[in-house]
Amino acid sequence: MSRNTIAQINLSAIRHNLGVVKGMAARSAVVCVVKADAYGHGLSRVCQALDQADVLAVATTGEGFNCREQGWAGRLLLLEGPSNQQEFEDAIAMGAEMVVHHDNQLRLLALHRETPPTALWLKIDSGMHRLGFPPDAAARVHAELLQYVNCNRIILMSHFACADDQRNPMTKRQLQVFDDSIAGLSGQVSLANSAAILNFPQSHRDYVRPGIMLYGVSPVGDRMACDIGLKPAMTLCCDLIAINHVKKGETIGYGAAYTCAQDMLVGVAAIGYGDGYPRHARNGTPVLVNGQRTSLVGRVSMDMVTVDLTGLHNPQVGDRVTLWGEGLPLEEVARWASVIPYELICGVTARVRAQMV
Ligand SMILES: Cc1ncc(COP(=O)(O)O)c(C=O)c1O
Repeated sequence: MSRNTIAQINLSAIRHNLGVVKGMAARSAVVCVVKADAYGHGLSRVCQALDQADVLAVATTGEGFNCREQGWAGRLLLLEGPSNQQEFEDAIAMGAEMVVHHDNQLRLLALHRETPPTALWLKIDSGMHRLGFPPDAAARVHAELLQYVNCNRIILMSHFACADDQRNPMTKRQLQVFDDSIAGLSGQVSLANSAAILNFPQSHRDYVRPGIMLYGVSPVGDRMACDIGLKPAMTLCCDLIAINHVKKGETIGYGAAYTCAQDMLVGVAAIGYGDGYPRHARNGTPVLVNGQRTSLVGRVSMDMVTVDLTGLHNPQVGDRVTLWGEGLPLEEVARWASVIPYELICGVTARVRAQMV
């Protein structure tokens, strides 16, 4: 029998979550971000569920080709643009639109004026200082792009550093810097990631770019996904493979990091950091056993975790253990493990079987 450690992927939840985004940003087109294997949910499956997306956005040309192989014939955006000749040729071959954020990419465009026309997304660094032209270069680059025959439309874009915190003044500052830099320039505009869709409606503009929301995870610290109407797209679960009675004063697992304060019933569940479950999840991290809430005791090992079964109703070897997802918010588990929810869903490893529900 194969190991029953499974990531249940709910494509109808992803469709539902796209509907939530469209409801929140009704006047904007939606760029669905499916990079990093659709945030760990499986790009090939997810891109088929996103037939109502206006654009799919990926980080790498490999991801772009994958979208095309799955039959996505719609608009496709390379979020970092090409960084060398090969990537440029690949982008053209797959009919992708490209972010242009650096002079190096202008040189690539200038060298290939004969390629088929595509939309170019001119990225301006409004303050995050990761990718983008300085604001005072916007007009110069815009004028240059207009001269290329292979540029059939310019979309002006930027990215926020702190949109998950509504009270942080940084986002409004970035908006101002961006708006000042594009004054008088033609082109549609795209700014908002998931957090900005929620927290800064004034940033919605022509295209919003949700990622994490599509997968049913809250992009903001002060609200859970269910409060926003999102449904979890991934439920991570496994089986209970052993149940042990452990005496008061005994310890559990590596490092003897947990000492039983009383006689305990301890379950061993078939998942560990080798599956992408966070090694630093602390004692007390919530789990569900047959739908009953309990918690981790002892350190996470490579293939197993240990959970407190004391007081649960009739636990049995073979019972279902849920690590996050339906009934157990990912955001809560992430907090216990001192990571962001993005890391957890992107980190599920290949030995976890995906199962469509
Ligand atoms: C440029 C850009 N836009 C949008 C997103 C989507 O962000 P989120 O998953 O927070 O919605 C990302 C993700 O990192 C991104 O890099």
